[in-house]
Amino acid sequence: MQKVTTAVFPVAGLGTRFLPATKASPKEMLPVVDKPLIQYAVEEAVQAGCTQMVFITGKSKRAIEDHFDKAPELEAELEQRGKTALLEMVREIVPKNVSCIYVRQPEALGLGHAVLMAKPVVGDAPFAVILADDLIDADPPCLTQMVELHAARQCSVLAVQQVPREETSKYGVIRNEPLEPRLHRIAAMVEKPRPADAPSNLAVVGRYILTARVFHHLERIGKGSGGEIQLTDGIAQLLNEETALAWEFHGTRYDCGSKLGYLMANYVFGMRHPEVGAEFAAFATGMARGKAG
Ligand code: G1P
Repeated sequence: MQKVTTAVFPVAGLGTRFLPATKASPKEMLPVVDKPLIQYAVEEAVQAGCTQMVFITGKSKRAIEDHFDKAPELEAELEQRGKTALLEMVREIVPKNVSCIYVRQPEALGLGHAVLMAKPVVGDAPFAVILADDLIDADPPCLTQMVELHAARQCSVLAVQQVPREETSKYGVIRNEPLEPRLHRIAAMVEKPRPADAPSNLAVVGRYILTARVFHHLERIGKGSGGEIQLTDGIAQLLNEETALAWEFHGTRYDCGSKLGYLMANYVFGMRHPEVGAEFAAFATGMARGKAG
């Protein structure tokens, strides 16, 4: 039985929807309350059992490498000031058994191309892909739910959610054959279809477990939607050879690639934050009352 031990994080995108914040720093470093999006993603991968993190980076992404590296000066300073809790937190960002690998994507040719860059590191094993701007609040975490399914079925598994018909053009959308509650076989997949052309309202969100065979197809497909090499198109080809499943995960997804989703995530995570949650909740209640009155 093959286990999923590698997680791939495509982080080479430009983040134009968050300009000017993303002019010089990566969108994946935007914090939800006090933790960058990419750290939530890495923590989800670690909880699901992954020990090798592969970041597909591009221009202006140095901050991500620095974030997951040792910070000797900061650590010395915290130690000297006796800030042990903060020191522990900084040291534990990457657990000891986890390694981080950085692969540079020379040109931003699309998500499929970014994932293909991981081929030399991944080899023949099944692997996970996490898009950090899809923050998923779930217990157990979304990728853990998917790893369990993968362990039982030994095939590719994609996370999906139902979206309003008018939003299908923002997503990869599947044609599904229902198997069990929340579980579907993927019969076909199309990237960003117009509502009239969408095969269902089940949209792929940023969590994938894929067999290495997908690389074979990513190497061969041409440009798709938006003139980019699309991961969706590579998976669509894979469906001719292998079964792939779609899992309507338990949990809530926040589209932190959009300002509205990002604000919602900060609200929800802020309300339950151990340090500021109670005060923030009181503030939010006061604001809501003020509005009603
Ligand atoms: C990407 C994928 C798309 C998927 C989406 C989930 O699109 O190409 O299939 O549904 O992520 O967030 P993007 O948001 O990068 O345009």
